[in-house]
Amino acid sequence: MVKKIKITETIIRDGQQSLIATRMTTDEILPIISLLDKVGYHSIEAWGGATYDSCLRFLNEDPWERLRKIKNKAKNTPLQMLFRGQNALGYRHYSDDVIEYFVQRCVANGVNILRIFDALNDVRNLKTAVLATKKENAHVQAAISYTTSPVHNIEYFINLTKEFEEIGADSICIKDMSGLLKPDIAYDLITEIKKITKLPIQIHSHCTSGYAPITYWKAIEAGSDVVDCALSPFSLGTSQPSTETIVAALKDSKYDTDLDINILSEISDYFQKLRKKYIKSGLLDTNLFGIDINMLKYQVPGGMISNLNSQLKEQSKEDKLQEVFEEIPKIREDLGFIPLVTPTSQIVGNQAVLNIITGERYKIVTKEIKEIVRGRYGKTPIKIKNPIVKKIIGDNEIISCRPADLLKAELDSFKHEIKEFIEQEEDVLSYALFGQVAKKFFEFRRAQKYKIDKDLVNMEDQTHPI
Ligand code: CO
Repeated sequence: MVKKIKITETIIRDGQQSLIATRMTTDEILPIISLLDKVGYHSIEAWGGATYDSCLRFLNEDPWERLRKIKNKAKNTPLQMLFRGQNALGYRHYSDDVIEYFVQRCVANGVNILRIFDALNDVRNLKTAVLATKKENAHVQAAISYTTSPVHNIEYFINLTKEFEEIGADSICIKDMSGLLKPDIAYDLITEIKKITKLPIQIHSHCTSGYAPITYWKAIEAGSDVVDCALSPFSLGTSQPSTETIVAALKDSKYDTDLDINILSEISDYFQKLRKKYIKSGLLDTNLFGIDINMLKYQVPGGMISNLNSQLKEQSKEDKLQEVFEEIPKIREDLGFIPLVTPTSQIVGNQAVLNIITGERYKIVTKEIKEIVRGRYGKTPIKIKNPIVKKIIGDNEIISCRPADLLKAELDSFKHEIKEFIEQEEDVLSYALFGQVAKKFFEFRRAQKYKIDKDLVNMEDQTHPI
Protein backbone atom coordinates (compact mmCIF):
# COMPACT_ATOMS: atom_id res chain seq x y z
CA MET A 1 0.00 0.00 0.00
CA VAL A 2 1.30 3.45 -0.93
CA LYS A 3 1.04 6.10 1.72
CA LYS A 4 1.87 9.69 0.97
CA ILE A 5 3.90 11.17 3.84
CA LYS A 6 3.28 14.82 4.58
CA ILE A 7 5.81 17.37 5.73
CA THR A 8 5.57 20.41 7.96
CA GLU A 9 8.31 22.90 7.11
CA THR A 10 9.86 24.46 10.23
CA ILE A 11 12.65 26.64 8.84
CA ILE A 12 11.08 29.98 9.71
CA ARG A 13 10.15 28.91 13.26
CA ASP A 14 11.88 25.99 14.93
CA GLY A 15 14.74 25.73 12.43
CA GLN A 16 15.91 29.26 13.03
CA GLN A 17 14.88 29.18 16.71
CA SER A 18 17.10 26.17 17.34
CA LEU A 19 20.12 27.42 15.42
CA ILE A 20 20.16 31.21 15.56
CA ALA A 21 18.18 31.93 18.74
CA THR A 22 15.14 33.09 16.71
CA ARG A 23 16.82 36.17 15.24
CA MET A 24 15.60 35.81 11.64
CA THR A 25 13.78 39.01 10.72
CA THR A 26 10.49 39.41 8.90
CA ASP A 27 12.33 41.12 6.03
CA GLU A 28 14.50 38.04 5.68
CA ILE A 29 11.53 35.68 5.80
CA LEU A 30 9.06 37.40 3.49
CA PRO A 31 10.75 37.25 0.06
CA ILE A 32 10.68 33.43 0.08
CA ILE A 33 7.17 32.78 1.37
CA SER A 34 5.47 32.68 -2.05
CA LEU A 35 7.88 29.97 -3.15
CA LEU A 36 7.50 28.01 0.12
CA ASP A 37 3.77 28.22 -0.51
CA LYS A 38 4.22 26.43 -3.85
CA VAL A 39 5.95 23.35 -2.41
CA GLY A 40 2.82 21.53 -1.27
CA TYR A 41 3.73 21.18 2.39
CA HIS A 42 1.17 19.87 4.85
CA SER A 43 1.81 23.11 6.74
CA ILE A 44 4.42 25.78 7.35
CA GLU A 45 5.29 26.29 10.98
CA ALA A 46 5.49 30.05 10.78
CA TRP A 47 4.80 31.56 14.16
CA GLY A 48 4.60 31.01 17.90
CA GLY A 49 7.26 29.41 20.06
CA ALA A 50 9.94 32.01 20.73
CA THR A 51 9.25 34.09 17.60
CA TYR A 52 6.81 36.37 19.41
CA ASP A 53 9.19 37.18 22.26
CA SER A 54 12.10 37.59 19.87
CA CYS A 55 10.20 40.03 17.63
CA LEU A 56 9.42 42.31 20.57
CA ARG A 57 12.60 41.88 22.60
CA PHE A 58 15.36 41.72 20.00
CA LEU A 59 14.04 42.68 16.60
CA ASN A 60 11.79 45.68 17.37
CA GLU A 61 9.08 44.08 15.30
CA ASP A 62 5.39 43.61 15.85
CA PRO A 63 4.83 39.84 15.86
CA TRP A 64 1.24 40.22 14.63
CA GLU A 65 2.39 42.22 11.65
CA ARG A 66 4.82 39.41 10.82
CA LEU A 67 1.99 36.88 10.94
CA ARG A 68 -0.25 38.96 8.70
CA LYS A 69 2.52 39.58 6.18
CA ILE A 70 3.36 35.87 6.00
CA LYS A 71 -0.32 34.98 5.66
CA ASN A 72 -0.68 37.47 2.86
CA LYS A 73 1.93 35.59 0.83
CA ALA A 74 1.05 32.03 1.87
CA LYS A 75 -2.29 31.67 0.15
CA ASN A 76 -2.41 27.90 -0.18
CA THR A 77 -0.46 26.31 2.65
CA PRO A 78 -1.93 26.11 6.16
CA LEU A 79 0.07 28.11 8.70
CA GLN A 80 0.94 26.41 11.92
CA MET A 81 2.05 27.78 15.25
CA LEU A 82 3.39 26.43 18.52
CA PHE A 83 1.29 27.39 21.54
CA ARG A 84 2.23 26.63 25.15
CA GLY A 85 -1.21 25.92 26.58
CA GLN A 86 -1.96 28.16 29.53
CA ASN A 87 1.39 29.96 29.02
CA ALA A 88 0.35 31.03 25.49
CA LEU A 89 3.64 32.42 24.14
CA GLY A 90 4.84 33.70 27.50
CA TYR A 91 6.43 32.09 30.51
CA ARG A 92 3.79 32.08 33.19
CA HIS A 93 0.16 31.00 33.44
CA TYR A 94 -2.35 33.52 32.18
CA SER A 95 -6.01 33.79 33.04
CA ASP A 96 -8.51 32.06 30.77
CA ASP A 97 -9.75 35.33 29.23
CA VAL A 98 -6.21 36.13 28.02
CA ILE A 99 -5.77 32.65 26.54
CA GLU A 100 -9.16 32.71 24.82
CA TYR A 101 -8.55 36.13 23.32
CA PHE A 102 -5.03 35.18 22.26
CA VAL A 103 -6.24 32.10 20.41
CA GLN A 104 -9.04 34.09 18.77
CA ARG A 105 -6.57 36.70 17.46
CA CYS A 106 -4.14 33.99 16.24
CA VAL A 107 -6.83 32.43 14.09
CA ALA A 108 -8.21 35.81 12.97
CA ASN A 109 -4.71 36.81 11.80
CA GLY A 110 -4.12 33.66 9.82
CA VAL A 111 -3.09 30.65 11.93
CA ASN A 112 -4.79 27.45 10.75
CA ILE A 113 -3.21 24.83 13.00
CA LEU A 114 -2.35 25.37 16.66
CA ARG A 115 0.07 22.87 18.11
CA ILE A 116 -0.73 23.07 21.79
CA PHE A 117 1.36 21.54 24.56
CA ASP A 118 2.10 21.83 28.23
CA ALA A 119 5.58 21.54 29.63
CA LEU A 120 4.41 19.16 32.38
CA ASN A 121 1.93 17.28 30.15
CA ASP A 122 -0.79 18.40 32.54
CA VAL A 123 -3.90 18.20 30.34
CA ARG A 124 -5.72 20.74 32.51
CA ASN A 125 -3.25 23.32 31.19
CA LEU A 126 -4.20 22.65 27.55
CA LYS A 127 -7.93 22.68 27.94
CA THR A 128 -8.73 26.40 27.65
CA ALA A 129 -6.54 26.82 24.55
CA VAL A 130 -7.98 23.66 22.96
CA LEU A 131 -11.59 24.73 23.51
CA ALA A 132 -10.84 28.26 22.26
CA THR A 133 -9.25 26.84 19.09
CA LYS A 134 -12.26 24.59 18.48
CA LYS A 135 -14.52 27.60 18.90
CA GLU A 136 -12.62 29.40 16.13
CA ASN A 137 -12.89 26.32 13.89
CA ALA A 138 -9.12 25.93 13.65
CA HIS A 139 -7.21 22.66 13.88
CA VAL A 140 -6.10 21.52 17.34
CA GLN A 141 -2.93 19.53 17.36
CA ALA A 142 -2.31 18.37 20.92
CA ALA A 143 1.36 17.66 21.56
CA ILE A 144 2.96 15.21 23.92
CA SER A 145 6.12 16.70 25.43
CA TYR A 146 8.27 13.61 25.02
CA THR A 147 10.85 12.83 27.64
CA THR A 148 12.43 9.81 29.23
CA SER A 149 12.30 8.92 32.92
CA PRO A 150 11.18 6.02 35.09
CA VAL A 151 7.58 7.26 34.74
CA HIS A 152 7.51 8.21 31.07
CA ASN A 153 6.71 4.80 29.58
CA ILE A 154 4.40 3.87 26.69
CA GLU A 155 1.44 3.47 29.03
CA TYR A 156 1.93 7.02 30.28
CA PHE A 157 1.89 8.42 26.74
CA ILE A 158 -1.09 6.28 25.70
CA ASN A 159 -3.11 7.66 28.60
CA LEU A 160 -2.09 11.16 27.62
CA THR A 161 -3.21 10.56 24.02
CA LYS A 162 -6.60 9.34 25.28
CA GLU A 163 -7.00 12.48 27.34
CA PHE A 164 -6.06 14.63 24.34
CA GLU A 165 -8.68 12.93 22.22
CA GLU A 166 -11.29 13.41 24.95
CA ILE A 167 -10.73 17.17 25.08
CA GLY A 168 -11.11 17.44 21.30
CA ALA A 169 -7.70 17.14 19.62
CA ASP A 170 -7.83 16.86 15.81
CA SER A 171 -4.36 15.35 15.60
CA ILE A 172 -1.56 14.26 17.92
CA CYS A 173 2.06 15.35 17.85
CA ILE A 174 4.90 13.58 19.54
CA LYS A 175 7.07 16.55 20.34
CA ASP A 176 10.58 15.29 20.94
CA MET A 177 12.12 18.65 21.73
CA SER A 178 15.50 17.26 22.79
CA GLY A 179 16.00 14.58 20.16
CA LEU A 180 15.76 11.79 22.73
CA LEU A 181 13.26 9.59 20.96
CA LYS A 182 14.95 6.40 19.79
CA PRO A 183 13.87 4.69 16.58
CA ASP A 184 12.54 1.51 18.20
CA ILE A 185 10.70 3.41 20.94
CA ALA A 186 9.12 5.68 18.30
CA TYR A 187 8.01 2.58 16.42
CA ASP A 188 6.45 0.98 19.49
CA LEU A 189 4.91 4.22 20.71
CA ILE A 190 3.25 5.08 17.38
CA THR A 191 2.12 1.49 16.84
CA GLU A 192 0.41 1.55 20.24
CA ILE A 193 -1.06 5.03 19.73
CA LYS A 194 -2.47 3.97 16.35
CA LYS A 195 -4.28 1.11 18.09
CA ILE A 196 -6.25 3.46 20.31
CA THR A 197 -6.94 6.41 18.00
CA LYS A 198 -7.71 7.24 14.38
CA LEU A 199 -6.30 10.74 14.75
CA PRO A 200 -3.36 11.64 12.48
CA ILE A 201 0.03 11.39 14.17
CA GLN A 202 2.79 13.89 13.55
CA ILE A 203 6.35 13.57 14.72
CA HIS A 204 8.62 16.44 15.71
CA SER A 205 12.23 15.84 16.62
CA HIS A 206 15.65 17.49 16.76
CA CYS A 207 18.95 16.11 15.50
CA THR A 208 20.82 16.89 18.74
CA SER A 209 21.64 13.23 19.37
CA GLY A 210 21.65 12.25 15.70
CA TYR A 211 18.70 9.86 16.11
CA ALA A 212 16.08 11.95 14.35
CA PRO A 213 16.31 10.85 10.69
CA ILE A 214 16.38 7.16 11.68
CA THR A 215 13.58 7.78 14.15
CA TYR A 216 11.50 9.44 11.43
CA TRP A 217 11.92 6.37 9.24
CA LYS A 218 10.72 4.04 12.00
CA ALA A 219 7.92 6.45 12.91
CA ILE A 220 6.78 6.46 9.28
CA GLU A 221 6.88 2.66 9.17
CA ALA A 222 4.71 2.58 12.28
CA GLY A 223 2.16 4.87 10.65
CA SER A 224 3.20 8.46 11.39
CA ASP A 225 1.31 10.68 8.95
CA VAL A 226 3.33 13.89 9.07
CA VAL A 227 6.97 14.65 9.92
CA ASP A 228 8.56 18.00 10.80
CA CYS A 229 11.59 19.00 8.74
CA ALA A 230 13.66 22.13 8.13
CA LEU A 231 15.22 22.98 4.78
CA SER A 232 18.91 22.08 4.79
CA PRO A 233 20.51 25.51 5.51
CA PHE A 234 18.81 25.56 8.94
CA SER A 235 18.53 21.83 9.56
CA LEU A 236 20.48 19.22 11.54
CA GLY A 237 22.45 19.92 14.71
CA THR A 238 19.98 21.21 17.26
CA SER A 239 17.36 21.69 14.52
CA GLN A 240 15.14 19.24 12.58
CA PRO A 241 16.22 16.70 9.96
CA SER A 242 16.58 18.32 6.56
CA THR A 243 13.54 18.49 4.31
CA GLU A 244 15.52 17.60 1.19
CA THR A 245 17.01 14.49 2.83
CA ILE A 246 13.66 13.15 3.96
CA VAL A 247 12.00 13.95 0.61
CA ALA A 248 14.83 12.31 -1.36
CA ALA A 249 15.03 9.31 0.98
CA LEU A 250 11.33 8.58 0.68
CA LYS A 251 11.19 9.19 -3.07
CA ASP A 252 9.97 6.19 -5.09
CA SER A 253 9.35 4.26 -1.89
CA LYS A 254 5.84 3.46 -0.71
CA TYR A 255 6.07 6.57 1.47
CA ASP A 256 6.85 9.11 -1.28
CA THR A 257 6.10 12.73 -0.27
CA ASP A 258 5.46 13.82 -3.87
CA LEU A 259 7.35 17.04 -3.17
CA ASP A 260 9.54 18.52 -5.90
CA ILE A 261 13.19 18.54 -4.88
CA ASN A 262 13.91 21.23 -7.50
CA ILE A 263 11.67 23.81 -5.81
CA LEU A 264 13.17 22.81 -2.47
CA SER A 265 16.69 23.42 -3.69
CA GLU A 266 15.70 26.79 -5.13
CA ILE A 267 14.35 27.81 -1.71
CA SER A 268 17.44 26.43 0.00
CA ASP A 269 19.65 28.63 -2.18
CA TYR A 270 17.87 31.60 -0.67
CA PHE A 271 18.34 30.41 2.92
CA GLN A 272 21.93 29.40 2.21
CA LYS A 273 22.80 33.08 1.92
CA LEU A 274 21.21 33.77 5.30
CA ARG A 275 23.05 30.83 6.79
CA LYS A 276 26.36 32.27 5.61
CA LYS A 277 25.44 35.67 6.98
CA TYR A 278 24.67 34.21 10.42
CA ILE A 279 27.80 32.07 10.50
CA LYS A 280 29.81 35.20 9.72
CA SER A 281 28.09 37.20 12.47
CA GLY A 282 28.81 34.37 14.94
CA LEU A 283 25.15 33.78 15.75
CA LEU A 284 25.12 30.45 13.97
CA ASP A 285 27.69 28.45 15.90
CA THR A 286 28.82 25.55 13.76
CA ASN A 287 29.78 23.67 16.95
CA LEU A 288 26.07 22.99 17.33
CA PHE A 289 26.33 20.57 14.42
CA GLY A 290 28.60 18.10 16.17
CA ILE A 291 26.90 15.11 17.74
CA ASP A 292 27.49 15.10 21.48
CA ILE A 293 26.23 11.78 22.70
CA ASN A 294 26.43 13.11 26.26
CA MET A 295 23.37 15.19 25.39
CA LEU A 296 21.35 12.04 25.78
CA LYS A 297 22.16 12.07 29.47
CA TYR A 298 21.15 15.68 30.01
CA GLN A 299 17.96 15.93 27.94
CA VAL A 300 18.64 19.45 26.81
CA PRO A 301 16.34 20.79 24.05
CA GLY A 302 17.82 22.33 20.91
CA GLY A 303 16.88 25.93 21.62
CA MET A 304 18.13 25.66 25.19
CA ILE A 305 21.64 24.65 24.19
CA SER A 306 22.13 27.70 21.99
CA ASN A 307 20.64 29.89 24.74
CA LEU A 308 22.85 28.48 27.51
CA ASN A 309 25.79 28.82 25.20
CA SER A 310 25.21 32.52 24.57
CA GLN A 311 24.20 33.13 28.23
CA LEU A 312 27.53 31.73 29.46
CA LYS A 313 29.47 33.41 26.65
CA GLU A 314 28.14 36.81 27.73
CA GLN A 315 29.60 36.25 31.20
CA SER A 316 32.80 34.71 29.81
CA LYS A 317 31.94 31.46 31.59
CA GLU A 318 31.86 29.14 28.58
CA ASP A 319 34.12 26.77 30.49
CA LYS A 320 31.22 26.05 32.88
CA LEU A 321 28.93 24.69 30.14
CA GLN A 322 29.72 21.06 30.90
CA GLU A 323 29.02 21.52 34.63
CA VAL A 324 25.74 23.27 33.83
CA PHE A 325 24.74 20.36 31.59
CA GLU A 326 25.51 17.90 34.36
CA GLU A 327 23.45 19.90 36.85
CA ILE A 328 20.35 19.99 34.63
CA PRO A 329 19.25 16.31 35.01
CA LYS A 330 19.80 16.53 38.77
CA ILE A 331 17.43 19.48 39.05
CA ARG A 332 15.01 17.69 36.78
CA GLU A 333 14.93 14.66 39.04
CA ASP A 334 14.50 16.92 42.09
CA LEU A 335 11.40 18.36 40.40
CA GLY A 336 9.67 15.01 39.78
CA PHE A 337 11.17 14.33 36.33
CA ILE A 338 9.52 17.27 34.60
CA PRO A 339 10.09 17.39 30.83
CA LEU A 340 12.40 20.14 29.63
CA VAL A 341 10.67 22.41 27.17
CA THR A 342 9.79 26.09 27.27
CA PRO A 343 9.25 27.39 29.90
CA THR A 344 10.61 24.59 32.13
CA SER A 345 13.82 24.35 30.07
CA GLN A 346 14.65 28.01 30.71
CA ILE A 347 13.65 27.73 34.37
CA VAL A 348 15.76 24.65 34.99
CA GLY A 349 18.56 26.09 32.83
CA ASN A 350 18.67 29.32 34.85
CA GLN A 351 18.69 27.42 38.14
CA ALA A 352 21.46 25.15 36.87
CA VAL A 353 23.54 28.22 36.00
CA LEU A 354 22.90 29.63 39.50
CA ASN A 355 23.73 26.33 41.24
CA ILE A 356 27.03 26.14 39.37
CA ILE A 357 28.06 29.79 39.48
CA THR A 358 27.29 30.21 43.23
CA GLY A 359 28.97 26.88 43.93
CA GLU A 360 26.10 25.70 46.14
CA ARG A 361 22.89 23.97 45.07
CA TYR A 362 19.76 26.05 45.69
CA LYS A 363 21.71 28.72 47.60
CA ILE A 364 19.74 31.16 45.46
CA VAL A 365 16.44 29.80 44.15
CA THR A 366 14.55 31.51 41.33
CA LYS A 367 10.92 32.50 41.82
CA GLU A 368 9.91 30.14 39.00
CA ILE A 369 11.50 27.09 40.64
CA LYS A 370 9.56 27.89 43.83
CA GLU A 371 6.37 28.15 41.76
CA ILE A 372 6.97 24.73 40.18
CA VAL A 373 7.42 23.20 43.63
CA ARG A 374 4.23 24.92 44.80
CA GLY A 375 2.27 23.31 41.95
CA ARG A 376 1.71 26.58 40.18
CA TYR A 377 2.82 25.19 36.83
CA GLY A 378 0.62 22.13 37.22
CA LYS A 379 1.12 18.58 38.35
CA THR A 380 4.67 17.21 38.12
CA PRO A 381 4.98 13.68 36.64
CA ILE A 382 5.74 12.34 40.11
CA LYS A 383 5.53 13.97 43.51
CA ILE A 384 8.52 16.08 44.52
CA LYS A 385 10.30 14.58 47.51
CA ASN A 386 9.78 16.23 50.88
CA PRO A 387 13.39 17.28 51.61
CA ILE A 388 13.48 19.12 48.25
CA VAL A 389 10.13 20.78 48.95
CA LYS A 390 11.36 21.90 52.38
CA LYS A 391 14.63 23.21 50.99
CA ILE A 392 13.00 25.21 48.21
CA ILE A 393 9.74 26.53 49.67
CA GLY A 394 9.91 25.76 53.39
CA ASP A 395 6.40 25.47 54.79
CA ASN A 396 4.72 27.32 51.95
CA GLU A 397 1.43 25.88 50.72
CA ILE A 398 1.27 23.55 47.69
CA ILE A 399 -1.76 23.78 45.40
CA SER A 400 -3.49 20.85 43.71
CA CYS A 401 -6.07 22.64 41.53
CA ARG A 402 -5.53 23.74 37.91
CA PRO A 403 -3.16 26.71 38.38
CA ALA A 404 -5.24 29.06 36.19
CA ASP A 405 -8.26 28.46 38.47
CA LEU A 406 -6.53 30.76 40.93
CA LEU A 407 -6.23 33.57 38.40
CA LYS A 408 -8.85 36.28 38.07
CA ALA A 409 -9.75 37.63 34.63
CA GLU A 410 -6.93 40.04 33.78
CA LEU A 411 -7.47 41.19 30.21
CA ASP A 412 -9.40 44.35 31.11
CA SER A 413 -6.82 45.57 33.58
CA PHE A 414 -4.06 45.02 30.96
CA LYS A 415 -6.15 47.03 28.49
CA HIS A 416 -6.48 49.82 31.00
CA GLU A 417 -2.78 49.87 31.93
CA ILE A 418 -1.56 50.11 28.34
CA LYS A 419 -4.40 52.04 26.69
CA GLU A 420 -2.32 55.06 25.66
CA PHE A 421 -0.08 52.82 23.52
CA ILE A 422 -2.69 50.65 21.86
CA GLU A 423 -2.69 50.95 18.06
CA GLN A 424 -4.29 47.58 17.28
CA GLU A 425 -6.38 45.24 19.38
CA GLU A 426 -3.60 42.63 19.60
CA ASP A 427 -1.29 45.07 21.41
CA VAL A 428 -2.91 44.26 24.73
CA LEU A 429 -1.79 40.65 24.27
CA SER A 430 1.84 41.68 23.72
CA TYR A 431 1.60 43.69 26.92
CA ALA A 432 -0.17 40.89 28.82
CA LEU A 433 2.61 38.47 27.94
CA PHE A 434 5.70 40.64 27.89
CA GLY A 435 4.93 43.71 30.05
CA GLN A 436 7.83 46.14 29.98
CA VAL A 437 9.41 44.51 26.93
CA ALA A 438 6.21 45.17 24.99
CA LYS A 439 5.94 48.70 26.34
CA LYS A 440 9.48 49.44 25.22
CA PHE A 441 8.59 48.18 21.77
CA PHE A 442 5.44 50.35 21.72
CA GLU A 443 7.59 53.36 22.61
CA PHE A 444 10.02 52.49 19.83
CA ARG A 445 7.12 52.10 17.41
CA ARG A 446 5.71 55.48 18.41
CA ALA A 447 9.12 57.15 18.07
CA GLN A 448 9.53 55.66 14.60
CA LYS A 449 6.14 56.96 13.60
CA TYR A 450 6.95 60.38 15.03
CA LYS A 451 10.21 60.34 13.12
CA ILE A 452 8.42 59.44 9.89
CA ASP A 453 5.81 62.18 10.50
CA LYS A 454 8.58 64.66 11.19
CA ASP A 455 10.45 63.62 8.05
CA LEU A 456 7.29 64.19 6.03
CA VAL A 457 6.86 67.62 7.56
CA ASN A 458 10.49 68.42 6.77
CA MET A 459 9.98 67.27 3.20
CA GLU A 460 6.93 69.48 2.91
CA ASP A 461 8.91 72.38 4.38
CA GLN A 462 11.49 71.92 1.70
CA THR A 463 8.94 71.67 -1.07
CA HIS A 464 6.91 74.62 0.09
CA PRO A 465 9.29 77.05 1.76
CA ILE A 466 7.55 79.83 3.58
CO1 CO B 1 11.20 21.77 18.45
